[in-house]
Amino acid sequence: MKEILVLHGPNLNLLGKREPEIYGHLTLHEIDRRLASVAQDLGLQVRSMQFNSEGDLVDALQSARDWACGVVFNPAGYSHTSVALRDTVSAIQLPVIEVHLSNVQAREEFRRHSLIAPVCIGVIAGFGWRSYLLALHAFKGVLEERG
Ligand code: DQA
Repeated sequence: MKEILVLHGPNLNLLGKREPEIYGHLTLHEIDRRLASVAQDLGLQVRSMQFNSEGDLVDALQSARDWACGVVFNPAGYSHTSVALRDTVSAIQLPVIEVHLSNVQAREEFRRHSLIAPVCIGVIAGFGWRSYLLALHAFKGVLEERG
């Protein structure tokens, strides 16, 4: 079974309570539960993790080299600031899809630029928790094509 790391960045542990008008009402636990169920239907397996600190996210990405075929990554606020996470995504040589719950292009200027997006195979934003779901569907096709 092909395994995908679903990696959530800082403050996403607060989903459900955090600005629900922007990020929705689902908790992270509920999102992860739905992703696990959809993944099973797609013949994939997901391992979900959330970290608030940059170093923990670097460690999780590096470890994924040993077991994952790809990463669905919401770097959250670090998307706009982190050279370290960009370097890690480049270094691990796994396909990574960047996701955002909100449409970052329609928000403040500083959110419109991601340091990480250019080293990802694609970006999905603006569909709430379904951004993650769309990324899993994308991975199914991408991994099948890669064999
Ligand atoms: C986010 C968008 C980021 O700009 C923000 O810092 C987040 C969440 C999203 O999923 O919409 O924490 O990544």
